[in-house]
Amino acid sequence: EKGGYDHFMLKEIFEQPQTIYDCLRGRLDAQAGTITMSGIQKYAEQISNANRIIIVACGTSWHAGLVAEYIFEELCRINVEVEYASEFRYRNPVINKGDVIIAISQSGETADTLVAIENAKAKGALILGVVNVVGSSIARISDAGAYTHAGPEIGVASTKAFTAQLAVLTMIALKIGYEKGTLDHDRYMQLLQELDAIPDKVTEVLRSKDNIQAIAEKYKDAKDALYLGRGYNFPVALEGALKLKEISYIHAEGYPAAEMKHGPIALVDEDLPVVFVATKDSYHEKVVSNMQEIKARKGKIIAVINEGDEQSSALAQDIITIPQADEIVAPMLSAIPMQLLAYYIGIAKGYDVDKPRNLAKSVTVE
Ligand code: F6R
Repeated sequence: EKGGYDHFMLKEIFEQPQTIYDCLRGRLDAQAGTITMSGIQKYAEQISNANRIIIVACGTSWHAGLVAEYIFEELCRINVEVEYASEFRYRNPVINKGDVIIAISQSGETADTLVAIENAKAKGALILGVVNVVGSSIARISDAGAYTHAGPEIGVASTKAFTAQLAVLTMIALKIGYEKGTLDHDRYMQLLQELDAIPDKVTEVLRSKDNIQAIAEKYKDAKDALYLGRGYNFPVALEGALKLKEISYIHAEGYPAAEMKHGPIALVDEDLPVVFVATKDSYHEKVVSNMQEIKARKGKIIAVINEGDEQSSALAQDIITIPQADEIVAPMLSAIPMQLLAYYIGIAKGYDVDKPRNLAKSVTVE
């Protein structure tokens, strides 16, 4: 049932070219320039006119929400807030009619996310669900939404569900931005092509597995790790740190790279691995200068970069190269080395990566 892989986690990481493809299939037509999502179409006008989109989720799904915040604000010019479901549900949040809530959940059963949207629904908000498990509680309570179609995720650490969430959220943003007119035709068509090309590029990323395993062996005894990124890759850094904590029990923190100066840089010494998610995007020059700051303090840089980025590779101890992609879709690629690095470090330490201690696959109690 693991399809020849040692663990479900590895199988699910390697399924991603297919799961992303399955998620796009029947929806995205890059040639015709269409995105077909019936649940979203029904409410497209309401979403376009929303004053605010509030995304509620937990854990990895919350990280997907953070990426979506950047994408929606850029393409749709709608104010987006991303909330931990557990905080949102208990703090008497301001919800107005006309607010649109997007709940993101792999299982569709996360208790905090479920109650958060029940509360918001009672206050008149439109609820959209981005859910993997068909017919789950969150899917049923949502007014509309889009399934991620990633298939059953067995490994406790979420992998393929995350990239499928990004694919769905990107399609929704492209559809709304284009209908609203905040996204012009040429850029829209270009981004459809970019999205269409993702499954094949994921296949290319997966070819770095041996390189990533070798890097994992080198750093498996680290006590701490820092993950840094900016812009679209900032949430990917958070996700990388979460994956490492869950699977290898190494203390890790993710930060926006520039925030490092405001405290975390005090941790940096020659024993600290610092993972930079530093693909070529509109933030790249800034990230490179953050890399220089870490190098000057003798931190060991592991850089996820694009092929041919000599400037970054000169600063790094170890590099993982991934194909170039537009910054809007790049997180679906840069997330994959995060997953593999955590996986191989967990394996090198002899842990049960499919069932990390103290964790349950779906958190149905608060
Ligand atoms: C991390 C992980 C958790 C879940 C979180 C939300 O690898 O699996 O952080 O992402 O518990 O779960 P869902 O998406 O099922 O609501």
